[in-house]
Amino acid sequence: MSGYEKKYINEAFQTNWIAPLGPNVDAFENEIANYVRAGDAVAVSSGTAAIHLALCLLDVKEGDIVFCSSLTFIASANPIIYQRAVPVFIDSEPDTWNMSPLALEKAFKDAFQEGKLPKAVIVVNLYGQSAKMDEIISICNHYHVPIIEDAAESLGSTYKGKPSGTFGRFGIFSFNGNKIITTSGGGMLISNDTVALKKARFLAAQARDPAPHYQHSKIGYNYRLSNILAGIGRAQLEILDDRVNTRRLIFDRYSQELSELPGISFMPELENTFSNRWLTALTFNGAEITAGELLKALENENIEARPVWKPLHLQPIFKGTRYYSHKENENISEYLFESGICLPSGSNLTEEEQMNVINCIKDTINHFSKERNVIHNEKNLG
Ligand SMILES: Cc1ncc(COP(=O)(O)O)c(C=O)c1O
Repeated sequence: MSGYEKKYINEAFQTNWIAPLGPNVDAFENEIANYVRAGDAVAVSSGTAAIHLALCLLDVKEGDIVFCSSLTFIASANPIIYQRAVPVFIDSEPDTWNMSPLALEKAFKDAFQEGKLPKAVIVVNLYGQSAKMDEIISICNHYHVPIIEDAAESLGSTYKGKPSGTFGRFGIFSFNGNKIITTSGGGMLISNDTVALKKARFLAAQARDPAPHYQHSKIGYNYRLSNILAGIGRAQLEILDDRVNTRRLIFDRYSQELSELPGISFMPELENTFSNRWLTALTFNGAEITAGELLKALENENIEARPVWKPLHLQPIFKGTRYYSHKENENISEYLFESGICLPSGSNLTEEEQMNVINCIKDTINHFSKERNVIHNEKNLG
């Protein structure tokens, strides 16, 4: 928390605007829309709810196809299943770790030939890094298929100077507890299509018809954000730019200290893009130990690092789902999953704590390479 949250929370209590909705919700929506220069924004209970609403607004229904990045958290794709639609997973490419335009193109060509284009494409900006939007937009425009930009992890990032989340027909943000700013739980749906967002507000509030009695002609959802949580969001938004600076400094320190170690490559930042560096991610392809063993060594020191998201096409729940790799024999998302590590990157990480992580990684890699040299020498002598 920033320390400014209580001001908004107290205001909500004093004015008795607890729920549903209220002035903080309206203000938070306006402030986010202004921050990312979008036509409008709808505050909802989670990023997942925002994706679900976007699919509803694009009329995605049973049997429809939706293309989706494979290397992401499962929440990107679950709403496709809520709609009984069919996901097709698209691999990553090495420059951004995000959706591969080559794989997307191939998926579109096949879909076109089969006479069934997707209803939508969900593009994820992993760990704060924007996908190759120009290429992806050009392919989707060619087939007249709308994009939902899953910017849950990339609030505060830009692509060619334009804020992340504003590239598709709809964009979504998450304010889940682990995100760069949080409302403890919440999300935002953004778009320049203000008519569609009006419908989103209707669907997110149980689709209540404008009648004095409780009348419903459509199925809706209970997806709105409370006035208290929106107050937390307003205070958090005030310090978003500081958070981005902090996360980038954390990335820089890791990168300065660890880049020279054998086998380590940091997640790239594509030219003309600015990443919020929500999490510092790297690949470790050591000759001596695997990424899994390095994670274990960190865990032994009580340091919580994580593997990169498990690609959705490898998830048991999506077994048998169609998937397009970057190139015929190049599965980038699988490689990133096997070798990827996300390092502790919280905005409150102290320099001392970060140096502990750095030293643990250095010690582990040096220890294993010494051990390997001993074995190697013994073998040579033997
Ligand atoms: C890429 C991505 N998409 C969607 C979500 C879903 O957001 P929420 O947890 O707010 O539902 C998350 C995070 O949780 C995410 O990381």
